[in-house]
Amino acid sequence: MTWSRRAILGSGLALAACERDAHSQPAPAAGPIAPLKSLAPFPIGTCAQVSHLDDPAWVQLARTHCSQLTPEWEMKMEYIVQPDGSFRFDRPDRLAGFARANGMRLYGTTLVWYSQKPDAFVNLDESRVSFAKAFDNYIAAVVGRYRGAAGWDVVNEAVAEDGDGWRESLWATKLGAFDHMVRAFDRAHAADPNATLFINDYNLEWLPKKLDTFLRLVERLLDAGAPVSGLGCQTHLAADLPSGAMERTLRQLARFGLPIHVSELDVSLTLSEKPFASARASTEAQARVYAETAQAFLALPRRQQFALTLWGLRDKDSWLRGKNAQDDPALFDDTGRPKATAQAFAQALSGGLYENASGRL
Ligand code: XIL
Repeated sequence: MTWSRRAILGSGLALAACERDAHSQPAPAAGPIAPLKSLAPFPIGTCAQVSHLDDPAWVQLARTHCSQLTPEWEMKMEYIVQPDGSFRFDRPDRLAGFARANGMRLYGTTLVWYSQKPDAFVNLDESRVSFAKAFDNYIAAVVGRYRGAAGWDVVNEAVAEDGDGWRESLWATKLGAFDHMVRAFDRAHAADPNATLFINDYNLEWLPKKLDTFLRLVERLLDAGAPVSGLGCQTHLAADLPSGAMERTLRQLARFGLPIHVSELDVSLTLSEKPFASARASTEAQARVYAETAQAFLALPRRQQFALTLWGLRDKDSWLRGKNAQDDPALFDDTGRPKATAQAFAQALSGGLYENASGRL
């Protein structure tokens, strides 16, 4: 059987052995850290929801540390496309406005994703409008409205869960397994020729076969002339990611010479398969994974460092908390204080080698 983190993530199964003592000890105290965006030579991003904009503590944290903003879900089909096929832009407009008002770049996600297939597309009356036309129109409307965004996830999670080929989806069925991707990139490029256009996926650092299929898909898209201009590595990681995995993965991704986006970074404690001896050992492992990711990204050529985006600033902001209330996957605790993990990450970002609490690498 092929194992996959996300299959488990999606299934909602509790991994009892891994959850054991996540909260049994308080996280080690940590002092303040410098603004992350001032430490990195590339943009530091965060995902955001409209509800965050009304939370002064979140706003303060995002303003201090981040220079790029990705709407977490309110710029996706799940929010924009209404049952009658009309579009709503009130919340994505607020997020885009917040980014603009705070000098942050806007990053859009996601235009085509197998997991989102609104009823208006499923039940489309094709005697009125063809599927291809409706697809084109969606991309033109959304990318056009946020013209000037730094980039877009145009195609999200196209590779099969286990890396064996590509996923089936409504879009693939209607418009062709490969052709719908080329079409999406073409339409997005036409709507905003200056935006960097990404293909984005996860588990690339975890499943060599998936990385390989992803790289071959990128090659094929480029050969077909699709305007793919960036590669996104989601980096939904777990604390037991082997040392060196991020470095190897980013180096492989970088071989096309395109900008790379570490697009959704979080490091789960509860999805770690390795049993840690203590809560302290698991948070140290988490700090190592965050720090190694920063180091691996820093090692890329400057022109290929598009951005590094944190998928949730505080533990309580993380989508992983919705999957497992015991998880603490972020850099900042629920009150917004930097955890020891954040210090390790900041130190790595500023080029310093990371040392764990026991004083050795
Ligand atoms: C998730 C968001 O965090 C949730 O709030 C939303 O309900 C569903 O999507 N891979 C992706 C992201 O590409 O878009 C997902 O974000 C997390 C997994």
